[in-house]
Amino acid sequence: MPKPRLVELNRSEIGEIPLFSNRYGKKELNNLLQRDFAKLFALRCEGRLLGYAVVWLIGKEAQLHWFEIFEPFRYKGLGSIFMGKLLSQLRKEKVERIILEVSEKNTPALRLYEKVGFKRVGMRKNYYPDGSNALLMEVTL
Ligand SMILES: CC(C)(COP(=O)(O)OP(=O)(O)OC[C@H]1O[C@@H](n2cnc3c(N)ncnc32)[C@H](O)[C@@H]1OP(=O)(O)O)[C@@H](O)C(=O)NCCC(=O)NCCS
Repeated sequence: MPKPRLVELNRSEIGEIPLFSNRYGKKELNNLLQRDFAKLFALRCEGRLLGYAVVWLIGKEAQLHWFEIFEPFRYKGLGSIFMGKLLSQLRKEKVERIILEVSEKNTPALRLYEKVGFKRVGMRKNYYPDGSNALLMEVTL
């Protein structure tokens, strides 16, 4: 496969994202991206989007609201590539700390985040509709 690239999409390109996941509908995604400090990144390969990430960039802190590789492309190392490129980009943008929350049941995401250095810094009990706890994680760049 040719090398995938990190791209930043503008708001008019939201429609390019096929929402396979049930986390956000188009409306929620639009709402998240309304703020001036919101950024939409994607991993693209030969014109095709492989996944996307929603980041709020506030001063030297970034909040990773969503990070996804679309289902047909998962478990092939693309999440790791995407995360590596995203961290480099945020470093270039002078971000010093990234925070996120993730379900403690989401093993693939947890492993990926821990692999790149995120640490568990807190927990919110029964946070998700299925009753699972949210882990709060952060990494210092
Ligand atoms: C989390 C996600 C982005 C990972 O993407 P991916 O392309 O499958 O990730 P990779 O193939 O690079 O694997 C990264 C790490 O995840 C873990 N992993 C991958 N597949 C796994 C599986 N089936 N079970 C458990 N862990 C797995 C491994 O630790 C792997 O690292 P390793 O290859 O060094 O062992 C992807 O599963 C996804 O989009 N999930 C749905 C959206 C989501 O839940 N996002 C998180 C929101 S907080």
